[in-house]
This record gives sequence, structure tokens and C-alpha cells, in this order.
Amino acid sequence: MSNRPTAGCRRAGRGCAERGAPDRPSRPGQRDFLHSSHPAVKWLECKKCGFGGQVDQCFRMPGGAMVRALTTASGNGSIRTASVEPWRERPDRPSTMRKEAMTVFEEGQLYSAVTTDADGQVQVHLGEDHPGFTDPVYRARRADIASASLAHRPGQPVPTIDYTDEEHGVWALVSAELAAKHERYAHPEYLEAKAALALPTDHVPQLHEVTQALMPLTGWCYTAAPGLVPLREFYADLGRRTFNSTQYLRHPSEPLYTPEPDIIHEVIGHANQLASPRFAAIAQAAGEASERLETEDALQFVADVFWFTIEFGVMNDGGVTKAYGAGILSSYGELDEFSHMDIRPLDIPTMGTLNYDITAYQPVLFEAQSMDQLEGVVGTFFETVDDDLAARMRAEAHAHA
Ligand SMILES: [Fe+2]
Repeated sequence: MSNRPTAGCRRAGRGCAERGAPDRPSRPGQRDFLHSSHPAVKWLECKKCGFGGQVDQCFRMPGGAMVRALTTASGNGSIRTASVEPWRERPDRPSTMRKEAMTVFEEGQLYSAVTTDADGQVQVHLGEDHPGFTDPVYRARRADIASASLAHRPGQPVPTIDYTDEEHGVWALVSAELAAKHERYAHPEYLEAKAALALPTDHVPQLHEVTQALMPLTGWCYTAAPGLVPLREFYADLGRRTFNSTQYLRHPSEPLYTPEPDIIHEVIGHANQLASPRFAAIAQAAGEASERLETEDALQFVADVFWFTIEFGVMNDGGVTKAYGAGILSSYGELDEFSHMDIRPLDIPTMGTLNYDITAYQPVLFEAQSMDQLEGVVGTFFETVDDDLAARMRAEAHAHA
């Protein structure tokens, strides 16, 4: 795991936005989202307190109060948590303190935790380095949108969000900036799907509008999630051609940066990709695989292959490496950088076991030579993987490490 890069100019996004033509990502080198579906919260080491990846700060936790709130919220099901690696004992701290602190630390680094107080008040706990941390208006907005998602029940219409002019402006700005890069860096399969879906570029679409556009193309629908979705739930829904999506937008001060997956990533990245019947079938196969897998190791293996394909996959196009992964295609900064990374051929055992830092640009990428090869290697893997195959591949990767 690499060190988290030093944050770039925090105000670059604002300055560029004011000029109307952003020319650089607001935080070069830093992953501009942490994905809701991604379970692989690799072991993180806080440099301040010693709790365990190599990040530069802890999620703030005044007096431990948030720990108790999170614990309570987890108990009554009102908070959705990540699937994480088991707690590792450290001999120099009391075990109860370590466990509580790690829980919050993981929540804060992976995703802004959503909690519900005893009186029903919903809170979204932004990390200290989140661009909206000191903005009470943004925090209240995040809470309102999270409340709508939390109140949503299966079978009900997906909540409609009354987006503000400012939020529509962020969508329009990022859409335009990404579109220019897509023309240059996106694989034609994605570009054709994006054209077929024809999402609005001047305003934030409602999730039901995304569904209305996707359904005739590939049969997929979008549903609302307040935040992190448990791994098995997220993948089970993929198997049913249902995508759990956030509905909030990044903070307007840094329109080209977000520390977590907002609706721009979920829709511009994923919905455009899922408008391709071929990409959609691969994603569905990954979801269906989860229903066969009993062990968490096997599910993690599938999720890691998903990470290096559906999220961060690249593909040859006439001798040029193009991006098709939703993570790259929704990242203003990473679109400029991915072609300079360590690009390797598809290798399922390695993809399923390679360690990586979800907070930084992915230094290793795996390139399919064609859609046919992607379907033949990755699609077939998702269609056939079971606990035994995943275990054999993991052992094979470790034997060659
Ligand atoms: Fe994603």
C-alpha cells in the first residue's frame, strides 16, 4: 500500500470553477472518491495514533461520543457499514479502545458515516479533510438527502431530490469537463453506451430518470442508498440488475474532487457503462456470483476482480489504451494519468489478490485486449467462480508472489 499523496491545491477547484474552465484536478494524485461497493478497506495505519494504511490523519472522534453513536446505530440497523478486515490485536493498547477507534476510523476513511439519533435526527459524519467539513449548509443538505434515502423502502418510488441551482451547476461543470476527456480517453464501447443513454448534462438527473433511460437498453434500474452499502447486499442487487446509488453531490468549492462516491460517479461513471449490454452482463455476472459464494474470502476475491475491471478497467483500442472503468471515467484527474500507470495483461489470480490503496490513483491497471477477451476471461470467471475456485486462485497468486 502506498502512502496517501499530499493533497494538492485545495482551492484549485474553486479558482478554476470561477474561471469556468478547470485545468487541473483539485487534488492531483489523490483518489477522488472511495467507492460505496468496495469492501476492501485494506488495513490502514494512522500516523497520529497508530491505529492501523498509511494515511495522514484520523477521523475526528470527539471524546469517543461518536463511537458510541455508531455502535448504537449499527445495533438498530440505521447505519450501513463496510465489510472490513478483521481487527488485529496490538499489544500496546486496551482491546476495547482499539476496536472502537478502528470502527470509526474505518467509517471515516471509507465513507461519511450516516447515523440516526435517538430522536430521529439523521447526521452525516464528514471527515476533517472533507471539503464540506466546516460548511453547515452543506452538512445539513447531506443530512436531508441521506434522510430521504433512509426513509426509502423497497417497492416505493425512489426518492426525488429537489436539487438546487448550485448542485445543477456542479453537475453541468463536471459533465462538461469529463465529456471532453471521455472523447479522448474512453473506450468506444463506453462512448457508444453513453450516447445511447443520453443523460442530461445541464442538470442532475433523478434516479428514476436514470432507470427510465437504462431499462430499455439493458434492463438495469437505479435505487437510492444513503451511503455505504454492505458488500453482500450491493452484489446481490447487481445480480438483480439493480444499482445502489448515492444521491448527493460533492462540495461546490471543489467540483473536481470528492473523497467519496457521489451521484456524479454513480451515474456518469456507472450508468453510462451499464448502458452497454456487454458491460452490464459482466457486472450482473459478478452480482450473481456473490449468491454462490459462502466465504468472505471468495466474495472479497470477486470484489477485487470487479475493482480492477468494472471500476478501474482499461482496454486496448487500436493500439491505444483506453478506459472503460467507471472509477477512471468519473475522475477528472485520473483520466489524465491512467495511461502512464503499470499496465498489465488480464490476470485473474493477481487481480483478485493485489493490494491497493483506495485513496490514491491506482498505480497498477489490467488491460483487456478486446471486449471479446474481457468477456472470455473476466465474464467467464464471474460466471463460474465458486468458493473452491477463488481459494485455488488465491493460493496460486500467493505461490507466485
Ligand atoms: Fe463505483
